[in-house]
Amino acid sequence: MKVGAYQTSLLALASLRSIFALPVLERDRPYRHPIARIPISSALTTTPGITPNLHILDKANLLSEGTVVPGLVGPDLNPTPARRQKRSVIGGESRYLQTKTGNPWDYVGRLEWAVGTSGYRCSGALVGPRHLATARHCFNTTNTAITYTFRPNYNQGANGYTAAQVTNILYVSGSLTDTCTYGDDWAVMILNQRLGDKYGYFGAKQFTGTTATFWHEGYPYDLGNSERPYVEQSISGKNVSTCNSGTTGPILTKADASDGQSGGPLWLLPEADGVRYTYGVLSAGSTTDTLFAGRTAFVNAVAQARSQYP
Ligand SMILES: *[C@@H]1O[C@H](CO)[C@@H](O)[C@H](O)[C@H]1NC(C)=O
Ligand SMILES: *[C@@H]1O[C@H](CO)[C@@H](O)[C@H](O)[C@H]1NC(C)=O
Repeated sequence: MKVGAYQTSLLALASLRSIFALPVLERDRPYRHPIARIPISSALTTTPGITPNLHILDKANLLSEGTVVPGLVGPDLNPTPARRQKRSVIGGESRYLQTKTGNPWDYVGRLEWAVGTSGYRCSGALVGPRHLATARHCFNTTNTAITYTFRPNYNQGANGYTAAQVTNILYVSGSLTDTCTYGDDWAVMILNQRLGDKYGYFGAKQFTGTTATFWHEGYPYDLGNSERPYVEQSISGKNVSTCNSGTTGPILTKADASDGQSGGPLWLLPEADGVRYTYGVLSAGSTTDTLFAGRTAFVNAVAQARSQYP
C-alpha cells in the first residue's frame, strides 16, 4: 500500500470535485475516484466518433438474487514467454508491470476519452462478447458528445489489438456520496466491436464474505503514465458491514491504486469451471483502503446487458 500514490494529480482531483462533490461523512474516509487527466497533446483519440446512448437501470429490479454470468476463455492469440517484471518493493508497493498476452490479460484494457484540452484515462474489462465493465464515474453523464474508446491489452500502443468505441452505457443513477453508494459506481458499456469473441472475457459473480486472493489490473498514472498495464495479486477483499449488513456496498480492499486505475477489474484465478469471474471494478481510493463496486446489482446488470445487446 503506497501512500504516495494518492498524492499525485491534484489537478485531476480538483476537476472531479465539481462533478462528484464528496462530503466526508462521519463514517467515511476521504475517498476519491482515480481517473487520470492528461494534456490533450498526448491523447490518442481526439477525432469525434460514436457517442453512446445512456440507459439508467432501475436498481430495485437488479437486487434479486445474483445470477452467475458465464465467461469465455479466449484463444491465446500471440503467446509470448512470460516477461513479467517484478518491481523493487519500495514503501510496500505491490503493483508490477504486466506484459503478457492471452487469458486473462487480453480481457483488460484502457478506456479513454477527451474533453476540451484534457484527455482522460480509466481501465476496464470485457465481461461479454461486446460488453465492457468499468466505473460509472468513467463516463460523463452531463456531456453526451464524447467518444469513448476501449483498447484491450494496450501497452504503449495497440500491439495489433483491435480497439472499440462505446455505443451504449447501462448504469444505475444516484449520487456517489458515501462509502456505501460507491457500491453503485459501476457501468456496463456496449462496444461496436465484438472484442470478446476474439480475446475472451470474464464472467461475473456475486461477492460474498471474504477472500485474500483477488487480482486487479489497471493503468496507473503514477507508475506508467497510464500507458502501461500494472497488476496486483493476493488482494484481500471484504464486505462493508455498515452497508445493509454487508449485502450491498463496495468490496473493501488494500489494493494499491492511483489515477487511471478506475474501472479496472477484481478477479480470481480460474474457478472450478476453468473460467475467471470478475467481482467488481475499482471505484475509489483513500490512503487506507481501495473500494471496488460490484455485488448483486452489477452482476444482474451484466446479465441484462448481455441479453439486451447479444
Ligand atoms: C464532463 O463534461 C463537462 C461538460 O463538457 C466538462 O466540463 C467536464 O470536464 C467533463 N468531465 C469529464 C470527467 O469528462
Ligand atoms: C460479509 O462478510 C462476512 C465475513 O467477513 C461474511 O460472514 C458475511 O456472510 C458477508 N455478508 C455478505 C452479505 O456478504
